[in-house]
Amino acid sequence: MNDTIAADSLTIYPRQALPEKWFYQIIAFLRINHTEGFVGENQFRNQISPAAYHPVSIVLGRGDVLIAHTEVLWKTITHHEQDYIIYGLSGVLVYPAFQGQGYGRKIVQAGTDYIRNQPNADLAIVICDAQNVAFYEKCGWQFVDNRLLLGDRSNPYHSEEKFALRFLSDRAKQHQGDFKNSPIYFGDEW
Ligand SMILES: CC(C)(COP(=O)(O)OP(=O)(O)OC[C@H]1O[C@@H](n2cnc3c(N)ncnc32)[C@H](O)[C@@H]1OP(=O)(O)O)[C@@H](O)C(=O)NCCC(=O)NCCS
Repeated sequence: MNDTIAADSLTIYPRQALPEKWFYQIIAFLRINHTEGFVGENQFRNQISPAAYHPVSIVLGRGDVLIAHTEVLWKTITHHEQDYIIYGLSGVLVYPAFQGQGYGRKIVQAGTDYIRNQPNADLAIVICDAQNVAFYEKCGWQFVDNRLLLGDRSNPYHSEEKFALRFLSDRAKQHQGDFKNSPIYFGDEW
C-alpha cells in the first residue's frame, strides 16, 4: 500500500494524447465535484471539454496517481468590434488528499505559463464561483468588476460567476479600457 515513487511529474497533453489513466481520474473528479455539468442531457457526458475549444490538459501526478490538473482552452470572442483569441483555464482540480499543499498554485502557474507562451493569445480568462476568487488571486490573477454575457448573442444573460482577465497581446493591451465598463459577450461557457 505504501509504494514510494519519488518524483511528481508535470506533463502537457493535447486532448487526443491524454492517457486514459489520467482522463478517467479527471472526469471522475469533475462528475462528483461539478455535478451541475453532468446532469440532464449531460448525464452521460464523457469528455472534459468540447473539442471545439482545443483542449490541452496539464497533469501533475506521481506514478499513476493524479494529484492536480488544469485544462487550457481557447476560442474567439468579439468585443467592441474587435476579435480576440481568448485562452482560459478550466477543470482546475487538486485531489482532496493533496489540497492545501501548494499543488493548486503550481497547476494554475503551469497553465498560466502555457497560455503566456501561445503566440496567438490576445487575452486570458479564469471564470469561477465567488468562493474560489481568493485562491486565484493568490495565484496572481486579477478579477474584473464587470459581467460576462452568456448564451445566445441575440438574447444573452448575465453570468453570476466572477472572472479574472489578463491582457497579453499589444492589441488587447491597447483596448484594455474597453473591458472595464461594458459587459463582455462570451457565448457558451466552457
Ligand atoms: C481550489 C483548489 C484547486 C485549491 O488547491 P490547493 O492545492 O488546495 O491550493 P494551494 O495549496 O496551492 O493554495 C494556494 C493558496 O490559495 C489559498 N487557497 C486555497 N484554496 C482556497 C480557497 N478555496 N479559498 C481561499 N483561498 C484558498 C491557500 O490558502 C494558499 O494560500 P497561501 O499561499 O497564502 O497559504 C482545490 O481546493 C480544489 O481542487 N478544489 C475543488 C475543485 C475546485 O473548486 N476547483 C476550482 C474550480 S474554479
